[in-house]
Amino acid sequence: MAIQRTFSIIKPDATRRNLTGAINARLEAAGLRIVAQKRIFLTGEQAGVFYAVHKDRPFYEELCAFMSSAPIVVQVLEGEDAIAKNREVMGATNPADAAEGTIRKEFALSVGENSVHGSDGPETAAAEIAYFFSGLELVG
Ligand code: CMP
Repeated sequence: MAIQRTFSIIKPDATRRNLTGAINARLEAAGLRIVAQKRIFLTGEQAGVFYAVHKDRPFYEELCAFMSSAPIVVQVLEGEDAIAKNREVMGATNPADAAEGTIRKEFALSVGENSVHGSDGPETAAAEIAYFFSGLELVG
């Protein structure tokens, strides 16, 4: 499998509980390299653009309000098969379904406040990285 890049967010429920370092340790232990990272505070509108694919879902408003309720840490992760590997380390969207040892099993509070986001495919990863980072900010 080739070296890939994927996009990751440490969400407000995790930054509020000071879990950035604990989550980063999990990512790095899995062989993912953090090649870009910044802590930002989204507006509701910026969160809405990022999650536009979910705009018709019943949880969209709640999701945008949550994602703009506290700082987030946006990241680009690099490694072999990085997209799938990150999703494996994160665990299922709903922590009730997440496997033992995953970030969401250990840290997520609910399906909405689920501590981390990770891209679901190569096209999504490229678009999500481009939404938050310029090429100059990606340092492999
Ligand atoms: P994420 O991987 O960031 O992608 C979309 C997000 O929507 C998801 O994580 C959850 O935070 C959120 N989400 C998905 N399903 C629900 C739900 N049923 N209720 C509230 N939020 C949800």
